[in-house]
Amino acid sequence: MLWVKSLHIVFVASWFAGLFYLPRIFVNLAMVPPESIAERARLLLMARKLLRFTSILAMPALVFGLWLWLGYGIGRGPGNGWMHAKLALVLVVLGYHHGCGVLLRRFEAGTDRRSHRWYRWFNEAPVLMLLAIVILVVVKPF
Ligand code: HEM
Repeated sequence: MLWVKSLHIVFVASWFAGLFYLPRIFVNLAMVPPESIAERARLLLMARKLLRFTSILAMPALVFGLWLWLGYGIGRGPGNGWMHAKLALVLVVLGYHHGCGVLLRRFEAGTDRRSHRWYRWFNEAPVLMLLAIVILVVVKPF
């Protein structure tokens, strides 16, 4: 079980590394002057590759988490409110991940109109989600 938990934590950390950096690229894309076509193309290429990589890393993170929950039964049954709250937040993380894909497609289509300031706030969300999930799973407050 500890091997599975170790791999779960490693892939969760890797997944979040992508979720932390991808919106940072969006901040830069929102600040690129329209005439800087080469810089825009370079940032779009980086974002596409990073999104693909982050999506690949999310899968083992989720599989090892499900293995701990459903396989070893950790967090199952009554009195494990922390696990239910954690799973609800994991759905929010998955929604955020999907949202990054939607925003990237808008940048590619040239239809995104949000300011770089909006993306700086958007970039803070994964920090808060990680903080809440780690407190839930380590402290198990309820
Ligand atoms: C489908 C999604 C997930 C499931 C089913 C899941 C399930 C679990 C389970 C059952 C444990 C073992 C808890 C224990 O031994 O006390 C665990 C550990 C852990 N999970 Fe997840 N997890 C999921 C996603 C995530 C995500 C997205 C994060 C981070 C943002 C995360 C962070 C952690 C951490 C840090 C631990 C280690 C806790 C400890 O050692 O006390 N998990 N997970």
